[in-house]
Amino acid sequence: MSGPKTLVLGVTGSIAAYKSADLASLLVKQGHDVHVIMSDSAQRFITPLTMQTLSKNPVMTAVFADQDGWCPGHVELADRADLLLIAPASAAALARLASGLAEDALTCVALAARAPLLIAPAMNGKMWSHPATVQNTEVLRARGATFIGPDAGLLACGYEGAGRLWPVEEIAAQADEMLRRD
Ligand SMILES: Cc1cc2nc3c(=O)[nH]c(=O)nc-3n(C[C@H](O)[C@H](O)[C@H](O)COP(=O)(O)O)c2cc1C
Repeated sequence: MSGPKTLVLGVTGSIAAYKSADLASLLVKQGHDVHVIMSDSAQRFITPLTMQTLSKNPVMTAVFADQDGWCPGHVELADRADLLLIAPASAAALARLASGLAEDALTCVALAARAPLLIAPAMNGKMWSHPATVQNTEVLRARGATFIGPDAGLLACGYEGAGRLWPVEEIAAQADEMLRRD
């Protein structure tokens, strides 16, 4: 019998970051081993303590942190990942991922991992429809990333349009389906 799958949940600096607490909880209830990575901006919206408690694992917030043993923490986590889910994914994170920039813990793990990548963007509608973001998503899709959302509706910034984080129940269901594929 195979053990639980390792799901790495990247949380970036969107107002929707508060929803990642429910998402982490749902993923744990599905039986997965959930490891959260938070960008600096994400920590302005929700605390690592919340994510650590709900994911039942330590949260990675920096590349240069204390590590167990000799292997860099981001490489160790990247090697263990069966799925990398980024929810919410900020416009800035999409740009870093598309460019292959490894300048924070999440993008280091993303570059070092070979697991499938599931991305749930959340941002202002104009940020989402900006040619730079459109191009970044096309690059990531061409490399095999799966996108879920964004949803349309009233955005936190006051605008109406595409940019809302997809419902977390459906993100969790999609992640679960991808983890059960092999
Ligand atoms: C109140 C507030 C809400 C924000 N919401 C979003 C958002 O939903 N999506 C987004 O891409 N950026 C949003 N930003 C801007 C990002 O936080 C900013 O681009 C940041 O540099 C992203 O960093 P990260 O990708 O490392 O998490 C918001 C900023 C503020 C102050």
